[in-house]
Formats: sequence, C-alpha cells, structure tokens
Amino acid sequence: MTQFTPPPAPSEVEAFIGRVVTDLGAAFSGVLVNVGRKLGLYQAMADLGACTSTALAEATGIRERYIREWLANQAAGGYVAYDPAKQTYALPPAQAMVLALEQSSIFMASAFEVAASFWLDEDQIVAAFRSGEGLGWHAHNHRLFCGTESFFRTGYRACLVNEWLPALDGVVERLKRGARVADVGRGHGASTILMAQAFPKSSFIGLDYHDGSIATARARAAEQGVTGNIAFEVKSATEFDGEDFDLVCFMDCLHDLGDPVGALARCRKALKPDGKVLLVEPYAGDRLEENLNPIGRMYYAASAMACTPNSLSQEVGLGLGAQAGEERLRKVAREAGFSSLRRAVQTPINLILELTP
Ligand SMILES: C[S@@+](CC[C@H](N)C(=O)[O-])C[C@H]1O[C@@H](n2cnc3c(N)ncnc32)[C@H](O)[C@@H]1O
Repeated sequence: MTQFTPPPAPSEVEAFIGRVVTDLGAAFSGVLVNVGRKLGLYQAMADLGACTSTALAEATGIRERYIREWLANQAAGGYVAYDPAKQTYALPPAQAMVLALEQSSIFMASAFEVAASFWLDEDQIVAAFRSGEGLGWHAHNHRLFCGTESFFRTGYRACLVNEWLPALDGVVERLKRGARVADVGRGHGASTILMAQAFPKSSFIGLDYHDGSIATARARAAEQGVTGNIAFEVKSATEFDGEDFDLVCFMDCLHDLGDPVGALARCRKALKPDGKVLLVEPYAGDRLEENLNPIGRMYYAASAMACTPNSLSQEVGLGLGAQAGEERLRKVAREAGFSSLRRAVQTPINLILELTP
C-alpha cells in the first residue's frame, strides 16, 4: 500500500471521511426524494401539517412501516422536521416550496430524475471516457429529458416572462406587438410554451435535433391548449433556417452544441438587423476556482455526464462545457459575428445574456 510521508493529520482524514459520508447519505437519499414525490408524500404532508407516521400512512394509503422509515431518512437530512416530544413530522414551508409545490418558484424535487439518469447511463459514459468518443443527448435514459425539463422549467416560470425578457432592450414591446421568435435546443418546450402563452400576438418556433423531445414538446403544448402561435420542428441548431426573426433564444443549450459558433453565426443571419439573441447559460465565473462551490459541482457533473459528451458527439465538437463563463461565451459570440454580449440579469443558477448582431 502507498505510504504517505508525512502521513495526513488524523483531523484531516476525519474531516474528509465526514464529507464523503455526507455525500453518500445524499446519494443514497436522492432516490427517496423520488419515492416521496411519486407517492405524493410531500404533498400529503404539506396538506396535513404536523402529523404522525400513522396519520401520513392513513392519508396516503401506504403501509405505516414504510412511511416511518422514509420519514426517519427525511428527518435525518433536514427535509422534514421531527418533534420528539409529540413524535410528529412536519414539512416546513421552505421545504414544501422546494419539494411539494410544483408551481412554486423554487420547486426542485424532480431534479433527482437527472441524477437517476446519470446512474443508468454510467456504462455508456465510462465507455465514452475510455474511447474519447461523444455521446448524444438522445442516447441517454429518458429520465434525463423529463428531469432537465422540470429543473429548468422552475426558473423559466419564475423569471423568463417577468424578469429575463424585460431585461432585454426593447424585446417585450416587440413581443406585445407581434414578433417572430425561435427557441433553439428546445427540449420539451417549457420556455417556448410560456412565451407563447404570454405573448399571443407573436409566433414561436421551437427547434431541437432530438425527435423524442420535439414529440413531447408538441404534446405539452397541446395539453396546455397552446397551439395557435407555436410550432416545433426537429432540426439541428446549425440547420436553423427562416429569416426576419426578432428574437432567437438559446436556453441552457448553447454549451451542449458541437458547433456553438456555427449555430450562432447561422442564427445571426436569420435575425432582423435590430433583432436580439437571448442566451441563457448555467451560472459560472470565468475561472475554474470561481466555480468550486455547490452550484459549480452540480453543473460540472451534468457537464461531464451529458453536455460535454453531447458536444463531442457532433461536428466540430467544441466541448464548451456547462461552466464556460461569460468571457468564454463572449469570445464565441464574437467569432460568430455578434458585436456585443451584455449580461442582462443573473440568478444563482443562470446567466442571462443579450447578444446584439
Ligand atoms: C440541457 S438540454 C436543455 C433543454 C431545454 N433548452 C431546456 O431548457 O429545458 C439541451 C438540449 O439541446 C438539444 N441539442 C443538443 N444538440 C443540439 C443541436 N445540435 N441542435 C439542436 N438541439 C440540440 C438537446 O436535444 C437538448 O434538448
């Protein structure tokens, strides 16, 4: 066995083991968030208020012994509060907003679907690391698509129409009058549908190279009765056609593309001379050391598992990564012929950038 000289201090070893145990606890427990969400346990707790395991079992029809074990795990992680004197469990309001209320501006429970897909895709990723080949978005387990949709939809619902679009120069006025908008790398269509609902006089086209995602986007729009001013097409970002667009959106997808410069250059040609690009990218600083924090950790994981392999699977294979940062994105925009890139607004999760031709 390797001997370290000098050996690490026992306190350092203990601290790091503590950290790994914490991570193991989180990794083991992520699936129980899914279990709670799928069985409606968080929702039932939000409705019931403080309750015993028996009351929660009665309200949900789940066997009490299972409920008690699930509650103990949730209490150990701080996801529910436990009152030892009364032996009751409660879902505090902050936890309810994150875990139970799908329409809340901070709902995150279904993001664990993404974690599930990463485990299911482990063998493919090990093979891709070994060979250096890419792995397209379409080749992942379908849970990635729904988990990503839900993870980003929360932010789009909270901010896209109320904060992000108004932070762009003159865009909301044009959307109210009637504008042509393309939404590239659209996934399941969440942002396209929200914009089409908010601006009925404008027309929206959502593009994605993944036919399965486009089929779901069409179904989502139909379910929500948004059909008059919206269309979805299976198309790669670099095959973008049409002209006279007032706005082209790239939401949480530019860094996934093999050829982000080519895609932006193509879209610049499709824009009106005074059109804009809305570029929403994962929040990141310009230097690696600025991103060594919990948000950066989450995004680097997504980048290694999905974004970078997708980029490497396509022509050019630039592999920007999900933590490119504003300066790197500015360079990409400049290479594509855009005259400026401005940070319009930011959230802890996203950078919202405006590109001008
Ligand atoms: C991280 S997901 C984001 C999905 C969606 N924008 C959202 O916010 O929910 C990246 C999306 O980019 C799409 N994509 C990847 N490469 C593409 C390409 N070359 N052209 C168009 N879409 C692409 C994927 O199919 C996937 O839907």
